[in-house]
Amino acid sequence: MNTVRSLITQFKLTIAYKIMTTSTLKKTTNIGIAENNLSQIIQLLNKLLADEYILNTKTHNYHWNVQGPSFYEYHKLLEIQYQQLDLLIDELAERIRSVGGNAIGTLTEFLKLSRLKEQEATYPKAETMISNLLADHEQIIRTIGDDSKKCQELEDDGSADFLLGLKEQHEKMAWMLRSTIA
Ligand SMILES: [Fe+2]
Repeated sequence: MNTVRSLITQFKLTIAYKIMTTSTLKKTTNIGIAENNLSQIIQLLNKLLADEYILNTKTHNYHWNVQGPSFYEYHKLLEIQYQQLDLLIDELAERIRSVGGNAIGTLTEFLKLSRLKEQEATYPKAETMISNLLADHEQIIRTIGDDSKKCQELEDDGSADFLLGLKEQHEKMAWMLRSTIA
């Protein structure tokens, strides 16, 4: 019964998401990109928004719970990184609005769409926390590279260029993390 209920909830969420991402297109966007292309771009950007939100939460979690002789160094680095992610998330959500979509803004949708995995109730060693975050940044970097090419194919140079900017920010954050465990 619970499985059926969960499937119904998932189905409703999927339908609501599709309506949400397409209904605003008809009213507001005439920016030289086909509606079908915009719809694909909005979905791709919203999935990335979900990934970013999970990574932001994970960075907060580790900022709060990190322990060890280099506590303060890690605690501070992760604070800087979640602040960067906060800004980046806002820019991404606003990019979605700029191309005519609704930016997802609920934890339920973030969890449903994100490709990153959370590790509940586990507080690993500082080095493991850093390498977990590094792996997530690198996954996002690869995803953004593919997404940027896809946006070009869909004739949205603005989103393709915007994504390359995000990629560069992640590459820098990944470098900072990598350097602490090298
Ligand atoms: Fe703090």
